Amino acid sequence: MSALSPVTRRPIGLMAAMPQELQSLLDLMPDEARVERGGRTFWVGHLQGRAVVAVLSGIGKVAAAITATLLADAFGVSQIWFTGVAGGLGADVRVGDVVVADALLQHDMDASPLFPRHELPGLGVSRLHPPRALTDRVVSVVAEALLEVDAAGALHGLGLGRPRVHRGLIVSGDQFVSAAQDAETLRNHLPDVLAVEMEGAVVAQVCQAFGLPYAVVRSISDRADGSAHVDFTRFVDGVASPFTLAIVMALLRAVPDGAGDALEAS
Ligand code: ADE
Repeated sequence: MSALSPVTRRPIGLMAAMPQELQSLLDLMPDEARVERGGRTFWVGHLQGRAVVAVLSGIGKVAAAITATLLADAFGVSQIWFTGVAGGLGADVRVGDVVVADALLQHDMDASPLFPRHELPGLGVSRLHPPRALTDRVVSVVAEALLEVDAAGALHGLGLGRPRVHRGLIVSGDQFVSAAQDAETLRNHLPDVLAVEMEGAVVAQVCQAFGLPYAVVRSISDRADGSAHVDFTRFVDGVASPFTLAIVMALLRAVPDGAGDALEAS
């Protein structure tokens, strides 16, 4: 047994935003054991032979922060992969596309005039960046994974075209953005923003605090502007959940065991 063995066996934390996504992962875990902590159910087991802890994130920043902290501190995960849905804000980010975060920011953080708008007090920055090596791998597997997913029927049925993959800024806040004016305000403040959701940037902050690599991948379920929404349940069942499953399985193949320990958290 190498001296690294105990470290390399640390499980990967899988945080899912939607129950359907979590279920699609659990369906392929042969041995999941249920562990209750902090009012949450963590599923400890294996996926494709790899040790994982899968859990529902909870909605919003505090819920996600508690879940991520428990994954880091109570379950000792080596890294966290977060999947879920988001509202598209980038001009060419369409419903059905997938956005991989290479930067995350809390759009409702504003401690001005003590700190500049969006700056995380104590950290001196507003944007957090997942490790580039992991983000590179995620981007390359997502495109490949989407081709494998048999979501064409579901996408077509919802009037959606072929999904594309984007890499860039995802912003989080305790608000479901559904008014065109709010979406426009976010774009004005943050011209490079691609997507908005309610958890990713705090998962980033927790992972940074614990020195853990992380990835945030979101399927775009709406344009965050109140425009005609696709049937959300059909979208999550037919598109977002199969996407999550394919992406996680492809990432498990692409990220070797123990890589989390080698990937530098930024
Ligand atoms: N998750 C999915 N769509 C969203 C939106 N428009 N705002 C915030 N979180 C979301």
